[in-house]
Amino acid sequence: MAIFGLVALLGLAWAESSSLPLLVINASRIYSFDSLVQRPAAFCVGEDGRFKAIGTEDAVRHACAGEYQVLDAAGAVVLPGLIDAHAHPMDEGRRLSIADLSKAKSEEEAVAAAAAFAHSDPPKPGAFLLGFGWDQNGWAGEFPSRRSLDKALPAELPAYLDRIDGHAAWVNSAALRLSGVNRSTPDPQGGRIIRDSDGEATGVLLDSAKALVTRFIPEPSAAERKLWFTRCLKECADLGLTGLHDMGQDPSNLEMFSGMAKDGTLTLRLNSLRLGRDEPGMGRGGHPEDAKIDDELLKVRGVKFFLDGALGSWGAAMLENYTDRPDLSGSLRMSLEELKAAIKPWIEAGWQVAIHAIGDRANRVALDAYEVLLKELQLEGSDHRFRIEHAQVLSPSDIPRFGKLGILPSMQPDHAMFDMPWAEKRLGKQRLAGAYAWRKVLNFARALPFGSDFPTAGVVNPWWGIYAAVTRQDLSGQPVGGWLPEERLSVHEAVRGYTLAAAFAAKAEALQGSISVGKFGDFVLIDRDIFQVQHLQIPTTKVIGTFVGGRLVGGEMKSKEVDIVA
Ligand SMILES: *[C@@H]1O[C@H](CO)[C@@H](O)[C@H](O)[C@H]1NC(C)=O
Ligand SMILES: *[C@@H]1O[C@H](CO)[C@@H](O)[C@H](O)[C@H]1NC(C)=O
Ligand SMILES: *[C@@H]1O[C@H](CO)[C@@H](O)[C@H](O)[C@H]1NC(C)=O
Ligand SMILES: [Zn+2]
Repeated sequence: MAIFGLVALLGLAWAESSSLPLLVINASRIYSFDSLVQRPAAFCVGEDGRFKAIGTEDAVRHACAGEYQVLDAAGAVVLPGLIDAHAHPMDEGRRLSIADLSKAKSEEEAVAAAAAFAHSDPPKPGAFLLGFGWDQNGWAGEFPSRRSLDKALPAELPAYLDRIDGHAAWVNSAALRLSGVNRSTPDPQGGRIIRDSDGEATGVLLDSAKALVTRFIPEPSAAERKLWFTRCLKECADLGLTGLHDMGQDPSNLEMFSGMAKDGTLTLRLNSLRLGRDEPGMGRGGHPEDAKIDDELLKVRGVKFFLDGALGSWGAAMLENYTDRPDLSGSLRMSLEELKAAIKPWIEAGWQVAIHAIGDRANRVALDAYEVLLKELQLEGSDHRFRIEHAQVLSPSDIPRFGKLGILPSMQPDHAMFDMPWAEKRLGKQRLAGAYAWRKVLNFARALPFGSDFPTAGVVNPWWGIYAAVTRQDLSGQPVGGWLPEERLSVHEAVRGYTLAAAFAAKAEALQGSISVGKFGDFVLIDRDIFQVQHLQIPTTKVIGTFVGGRLVGGEMKSKEVDIVA
């Protein structure tokens, strides 16, 4: 789609700032995801930002009525706006705002990238130069040293650079000085200061030793946090996301989001979950009735708990020991009794609970806790929408329980894409039967919401996730036929995960997830028909325009001069 022109027909030409109703015509295909609508040719978003009519062009023009603007989709394909049901937008914004060392192929290149960043975006006095993403495995294999950083950076500028996995940090001499780390500093429990043959710290700190330095890094200011978040919003809008489930947020950030929802700078619908460590009812101002937020753009009605770690570091709690670490089975952060005690007051206060569970043992304990509490609180059969985040490795006997208990499995297709090179080694063949088991889960669950877990274990780009769900292949199309191909979904099922199912998981299906009269006017224009093209073409889908409530927020149109013919 080279040229994207806009022409006025009967109404006024489309203009970004207008609050007139918006008529969208001339799409090559509109996939409404509304089962009652047959191959519509046009739709209209009313002044209230909601879909007003959908159907034939004549009927929609008629329904749009009065003065309206026309958007000629020029052969683009239209989908409902996509929703990522599991993401960490503040972390992504931070990632976008610090030095990216992930492309460095040597220590020298990493130093150069850090120095270039410090030059182009100099940290304020007292602040650290922050970076992330280095990986010595791709270099000569040796850990880097503070000396190379010292040569390239201002002597007084402390630098703190996280390794790709977050388990190691590379710092310079200024950072060590500032933190008081010297040759007599002992290794803290659960961590290590790498030292040279003279016993001097080399500048690499492992695990808990990172805290020797991190506690001196100033907290980001309100302005920085807003900048980070805004960068993430822009990235989301350009990739077609009109909604996000933000998986665990601090109250101070929730206030910021609330302000942005009011002043119009929140460009997607955000469902932010609180973190379970906060007390229920400890809302803004301390009034329980204040704690939940239920606005058009911002919802805070859910709470997230962590039950185990991740598979990549053998932290996921398994029923049996790991295949490649027969002495380990991961660990639960809470016992069944502790989990029940933690979530019960939130359930009683009417919050939607989500539990992070990756290993089959964690998933079983989470299901057990829900089962017992649903019975105890007489909520069996109610529309509670309790969630399990990841549901990554399941014992096959637990899969039907998602249906029976009405628990929503919130899964991330890109995890399978990233984990498939090593998952069998870690889990063994037998356990793979319940790993990333979208098809088996979908046979039982009420809905299968999809997300990415960006930036920790996934990418913002939802077209990658749709591709992974459909093919179970990496971006080069390997392995041929797909990994555990019986779990592949259709494109329709995958997109449903990012639209209607994700909306359902936020109790927002009456307002989001399809192009249906009365729902919010959230939709995307894309350059290809992902239901027709070769699957390998799905990840490179280009977003022409992303609209939230009928307002253009991102995509190629946003950054292009457009013809407006009056
Ligand atoms: C509709 O889109 C096509 C491209 O698919 C374009 O050639 C045409 O000018 C557009 N406008 C109308 C009114 O057909
Ligand atoms: C060296 O570190 C130790 C412990 O971290 C601290 O007690 C001591 O004061 C430091 N010495 C100097 C000279 O900074
Ligand atoms: C699993 O690991 C635990 C802890 O190291 C060990 O005691 C146990 O024997 C292991 N189980 C098997 C079946 O190897
Ligand atoms: Zn997460």
